[in-house]
Amino acid sequence: MKPVQIADDIYWVGAIDWNIRDFHGYSTCQGTTYNACLIKDEKITLIDTVKKEFADDLIANISELIDPKKIDYVISNHTEMDHSGGLARVMHRIGEDKPLYCSKMGQKNLSMHFPQKWNYHPVEDGGELNIGRRTLTFLETRMLHWPDSMFTYAKEDKILFSSDAFGQHFAGLERFDDQIGEAIMPHAQKYFANILLLYSSLILKLVDKVENLGLALDMICPDHGIIWRKDPLKIINAYVEWSEQKPKRKALVIYDTMWHSTERMAEEITYALGQEGVDARSTHLRSWHRSDIMTEVLDAGAIVVGSPTLNNGLFPTVSDFLTYMKGLKPKNKIGAAFGSYGWSGEAVKLITRELEEMKFDIIEPGLRIQYVPFGSGVEACRELGKKVAQRLPE
Ligand code: FEO
Repeated sequence: MKPVQIADDIYWVGAIDWNIRDFHGYSTCQGTTYNACLIKDEKITLIDTVKKEFADDLIANISELIDPKKIDYVISNHTEMDHSGGLARVMHRIGEDKPLYCSKMGQKNLSMHFPQKWNYHPVEDGGELNIGRRTLTFLETRMLHWPDSMFTYAKEDKILFSSDAFGQHFAGLERFDDQIGEAIMPHAQKYFANILLLYSSLILKLVDKVENLGLALDMICPDHGIIWRKDPLKIINAYVEWSEQKPKRKALVIYDTMWHSTERMAEEITYALGQEGVDARSTHLRSWHRSDIMTEVLDAGAIVVGSPTLNNGLFPTVSDFLTYMKGLKPKNKIGAAFGSYGWSGEAVKLITRELEEMKFDIIEPGLRIQYVPFGSGVEACRELGKKVAQRLPE
């Protein structure tokens, strides 16, 4: 991929990772990009780098535009290695003494990833850097999603370089929202649900902060996926909506099964939910990736989890998913548990305990059926579906 001009004297010089399918446990079914940008001003400035394995692509892209040694400043918006892994190679190539701008936490965290004593210039929230015809402003965005995270805003161009925020794991030749249209939104939603959901309250505060600062935005350039230039407000509004986590009349039935009994229960519960006018979806944990299920969790009002009892505990995939979901801290959910068992039957109690810890509004009691559901067992599943439906908003 060659550099792509995104504004006067500003170029995308990042890399496309077509083939990555597992991003620390997130299923990147269409790959991703690592976006880095070069500003050719009086002081030539590089914003972010790429994953270590793609450092050659980055340097090749920069070399199409300038001799990399001519880079004056490097800005690191975020320490995570998909954006800083290439830093060592870049600094070596351009000169180890070149000023490296980052947040204070960025300096601390980069120093714990790289032994090099680089020429760090930690910046304050609201701090500015003049690079010639432009002034860059730094906005600290702590815990969005690492302690070091920050945005860089190019005032004259009205471009926000937003690090991970507003990104999408999507590999393609398209660089801009107007080249792909609505098809990008599911990727943005999945990214939010799996990376940023737990910071929803911080996102709402950040959007307020950006509005209060009155930052004009012609373009939002995240570190992954396409750049928002046609309608940057579209993704901001989507983030507000997703962060508010208003429950919809939608239920997810999430389960695993050993001999199809818990599966049968899932089918009956899902059917009953549908009969009550709920947008009900059934997700088998060995057919759905946990990160795809989390995308569905985002706007669901009810989460109904089923597990057989295996060795007095939960089925391993159910434990895996509950751990993952708990970490992402979804809010405003109704929860219910169900499962088939043979003799001890602890799974429903264990699921209920996990859902309680997530502060879900639990429908008690959960539903346990010994061995195979039929007759009154099937009726009990349908009753549970109805109870969940009654608790959901119209
Ligand atoms: Fe894309 Fe937090 O790294």
